[in-house]
Amino acid sequence: MERLDHIRDEIQRLVKQAASLEALEQARVALLGRKGRITELMKGLGALAPEARRELGAALNRLKGEAEEAIAHAARRLEDEALRARLREERVDVTLPVRAESEGRVHPLSQTIDEIVAIFGEMGFSVAEGPDIEDDFHNFTALNIPPEHPARQEQDTFYLPEHRDGRKVLRTHTSPVQIRTMQKVKPPIRIIVPGRTFRSDHDATHSPMFHQVEGLVIDKTTHMGHLKGCLVEFCRAFFDIDDLPVRFRPSYFPFTEPSAEVDIGCSREGGGLRIGAGGSWLEILGSGMVHPKVLANCGIDPSEYQGFAFGMGIERVAMLKYGIPDLRAIYDNDLRWLRHYGFLPLDLPSMVGGLAR
Ligand code: PHE
Repeated sequence: MERLDHIRDEIQRLVKQAASLEALEQARVALLGRKGRITELMKGLGALAPEARRELGAALNRLKGEAEEAIAHAARRLEDEALRARLREERVDVTLPVRAESEGRVHPLSQTIDEIVAIFGEMGFSVAEGPDIEDDFHNFTALNIPPEHPARQEQDTFYLPEHRDGRKVLRTHTSPVQIRTMQKVKPPIRIIVPGRTFRSDHDATHSPMFHQVEGLVIDKTTHMGHLKGCLVEFCRAFFDIDDLPVRFRPSYFPFTEPSAEVDIGCSREGGGLRIGAGGSWLEILGSGMVHPKVLANCGIDPSEYQGFAFGMGIERVAMLKYGIPDLRAIYDNDLRWLRHYGFLPLDLPSMVGGLAR
């Protein structure tokens, strides 16, 4: 019994002194391992008289329990300490400046899409997407584009080889996502659709692959005034010019009625182009009230719902906003160009109405 008290003191000492999980494990083996002190004593019980064996056995069992508990407790303490040390050591200082030698840039097209999404996002629009490879129904027919319409001609549209269920096309605009959305969700609808589009055009101002952003708003009382208010607000926020002149010019699209093209004011004095100044106009997007036939094609009752849509070329507004003179350079992936026109990752827009820079 005296020896047990002695061991009890030793347990406390060993466990308290253990400075690491490894040291603690050594102490555990020394006490409770196959040749540990407590184990050895237990082995010796068999040689005792029954009376003494019972008494010592109970005491040994208690001691064993105490040892196990003390070890588990010390292990938790050591694990806590190790975690706290790691948290101290591996702490990240998010306020450190970006490394000056960083080569990475955000491409101006990505930057422009982010800005457009931020501005419309603030107005309550969400982002929708659709496939780049479309069928004739979504790209043309449902949009009320008749079979003889020039947009369907081979020289403008990339057609894929004839397929079991008709001819597929590389979508020529983002408008098919209007159809896909209206087929899928019940109004009210308020979406924008940034994405790739394709037309068989290639010169200094046209690329066979380019980007558009579509907008669609459908509700019971949405009218032309909402279309105008929304697009004027967008143009002024995007170009960061509060009094930017915006003009709505009558136009025609098969899928909207009435239709309007949107121009912004600019000046062309001295050969340069200045957005916001008077004198001249620049077309930046097409828009209109969604044609009743298009609503009906999507299973939406035109006597109950109405709304507006618009479509804008992203390269064009990016070039205007950031003074990019040549469309083709946008896709060249020349690092020198990207370093000049690109954006540092932390300059991403955080506010409506332009960049927080
Ligand atoms: N889809 C048209 C285009 O590519 C743009 C547009 C979209 C016009 C929506 C009106 C409404 O030219």
